[in-house]
Amino acid sequence: VRGGTEETTTGVIRLRAMAKDGVLAYPVIAVNEARTKHMFDNQYGTGQSAVDGLLRSTNILIAGKTAVVCGYGWVGRGVASRLRGMGAAVIVCEVEPLRGLEAAMDGYQVMTVADAAKKGDIFFTATGNLNVLGKDHFGHMKDGAILANVGHFNDEIEIPALERASSSKRTIRPFVEEYRLGSRSVFLLAEGRLLNHAAAEANPAAVMDMSFANQVLAIEHLLGEPDLRPDVYPVPLQHDEDIARLKLEAMGVRIDEMTAAQRDYAGQWKAGT
Ligand SMILES: NC(=O)c1ccc[n+]([C@@H]2O[C@H](COP(=O)([O-])OP(=O)(O)OC[C@H]3O[C@@H](n4cnc5c(N)ncnc54)[C@H](O)[C@@H]3O)[C@@H](O)[C@H]2O)c1
Repeated sequence: VRGGTEETTTGVIRLRAMAKDGVLAYPVIAVNEARTKHMFDNQYGTGQSAVDGLLRSTNILIAGKTAVVCGYGWVGRGVASRLRGMGAAVIVCEVEPLRGLEAAMDGYQVMTVADAAKKGDIFFTATGNLNVLGKDHFGHMKDGAILANVGHFNDEIEIPALERASSSKRTIRPFVEEYRLGSRSVFLLAEGRLLNHAAAEANPAAVMDMSFANQVLAIEHLLGEPDLRPDVYPVPLQHDEDIARLKLEAMGVRIDEMTAAQRDYAGQWKAGT
């Protein structure tokens, strides 16, 4: 193996941890960190396919519901904006102050998971983290609350705690399991696995094209750099620009180019100050 490329947010985090511990065996390019990857695939791709998975598995009416989105990263903001666009009142939960602030200024209610647990009809986790919805929350949820994950793994929702807290469990329809908690029920979708992959078709090809263009160019780059040490490397900046230009062209969208005078002005420190 000469090198690797990593597609997703949590994968990059894990590979960085391996590099730090000196156990990464070959160089890896962090494809997820290309702007033409995470800003589009994670946000618009998963934002849409998360809602697709929710609708295919439950056929609920989103309008008028309260949706809670845990994590306001690229995936979370995509999910939040799509749910809002379909008429849900959206609450965002975060642990990172800047992202919490962004969500608040984007017009969402921002609160702790403990507070949001009592209010949500639909819950999405999109954090890459562990037990984001957990034992302290299930008992406070409304009857009929729907729980779904589109983050990393089936441990964003603490399923063992849900199993322990519930008196019974039954499958209502494909991808929907009802857990009885006293006189109430909560519905877990796709066993807490990535809902957009399990119950829908994951992200549309028309956004994955940019992610996979990054993969191919990153592999080509690795082949041209045989002496790279085992570590995690960024995607070369030029790739982002090339891919964005190609995508615009494919979409039939034209943008302007700076004039020579504008380029000169933009590089000045004596003029316009
Ligand atoms: N389902 C898919 O198709 C798909 C696509 C892309 C990425 N992903 C995965 O989705 C996850 C999120 O990706 P991203 O690009 O948005 O990452 P990101 O790092 O941009 O965002 C994650 C956010 O979650 C927040 N967070 C962490 N712990 C939290 C907690 N306990 N409560 C609330 N918020 C918390 C972080 O502060 C961060 O803002 C990753 O695991 C990624 O691998 C899934």
